Amino acid sequence: MAAKPPLTADDWMALDFEISRLFDGAPVDEEQMFAGRLAEVTKMLRTVMERSRHVVLFGERGVGKTSLSNIFWRRYGKTLQSFIVARVQTGPQDNFTSLWVRALEELKAVGIANGRGSYVPFETDFETITPSQVRRELQKINANALPVIIIDEYDKLADRDTKVLTANLIKELYDFSVSTTVILVGVAENISELIEDHASTDRAVVQVPLSRMSESELREIIAKRISQTPMKFSPDAVLTIVLLSRGLPYFTQVLSKHAALHAIDNRRLNIANQDVEAAMNRFINDTEVSFRDGYRAATRTNQQSNLHQSLLACALARCDDEGFFKATDVVEPFSAIMKSPKRIAHFEKHLRRFSSDEGGNILVRRGGDRQQTFRFADPMMQPYVIIRGIQTNMIDESAKKLLLQKEQGELAI
Ligand SMILES: Nc1ncnc2c1ncn2[C@@H]1O[C@H](COP(=O)(O)OP(=O)(O)OP(=O)(O)O)[C@@H](O)[C@H]1O
Ligand SMILES: [Mg+2]
Repeated sequence: MAAKPPLTADDWMALDFEISRLFDGAPVDEEQMFAGRLAEVTKMLRTVMERSRHVVLFGERGVGKTSLSNIFWRRYGKTLQSFIVARVQTGPQDNFTSLWVRALEELKAVGIANGRGSYVPFETDFETITPSQVRRELQKINANALPVIIIDEYDKLADRDTKVLTANLIKELYDFSVSTTVILVGVAENISELIEDHASTDRAVVQVPLSRMSESELREIIAKRISQTPMKFSPDAVLTIVLLSRGLPYFTQVLSKHAALHAIDNRRLNIANQDVEAAMNRFINDTEVSFRDGYRAATRTNQQSNLHQSLLACALARCDDEGFFKATDVVEPFSAIMKSPKRIAHFEKHLRRFSSDEGGNILVRRGGDRQQTFRFADPMMQPYVIIRGIQTNMIDESAKKLLLQKEQGELAI
């Protein structure tokens, strides 16, 4: 049964604001709004409780690293009291001293703000600092505290010496059994992209790779937020949003928001597939500036070719949960789009182009000739390409459902 609509224009306006707040696309910082990721939350909490090892949290851009690091320690309220959690962002200009003095200052400030000033009696006033000095200061923290230092955007760090010194610090904290847990967070495919000489820190570090979200986790994002309003999504609308999101939670939020706002504009509380379609238009308009150039560089050509179609097929190709696909995975979606059976030879040179300067490196390539895999350099480009393909009628309705659903089924395994 349809929910009872609000009566006044002011009510609708209030609902509009509420939707914009709920689906704001910012990193999650309220436990209530955080969906899924149970295994990762547990792994990180366990490491902090163990008090000896440290965490490296890594994954593709936009998969939810900052959100997870914001939330994991708030899961179990009982221990909350003793947590002192400092977060610092890394910048390209940072060196070891600037980064770690900032981390100490932040930890102390948070301790004081939590009314636990006596837990954090260390110094922060250093012109330069070494790993051993950081370790000695952290050793002054009260044994009842659970101190955590989150170093976010660690991949932005440009200075190699700082990476080496930070790795030394982690090793030293481990060797001296210091209770502070360091969590390094960054965009990376594997740990060695983030940590210099990672073999030497191997035992000191717990790896937490973060993959794209499963279909059920994305559904949970929508359910948790919309349940705080009188609005409802139709099952069809949820399905379309989830399928288009390709495991990327930001899209789930943005498409849900635009769809709900479209329903509100039409004075409806039930959000249907037609609202999701309107949301796609809105999404393309909003993101045109950031994605248009990349898309054009990849597909611009003087010759008659099917670059648009093969790029769309790449975006629809079955991929692993880090977004990687093989040329063979492109065959099926490309054939469906072209409405005739195709082979790798029909689009092989397109893949080469997409992963070269000529094609603006819209794809990155990994592995040698036989084992080559590809993925979108910017994961956000993938849903953009799909939505653009749908809008320009490159795939018809039946092919769309088939390809998208099939894909997601594989992803969810
Ligand atoms: N578990 C979650 N539940 C609900 N929404 C989430 C979750 N994880 C991430 N999101 C949403 O996904 C988007 C990206 O999240 P976040 O900023 O945490 O990712 P990130 O990996 O840190 O991104 P970047 O690589 O750009 O730093 C945000 O809109 C956030 O609200
Ligand atoms: Mg982040």
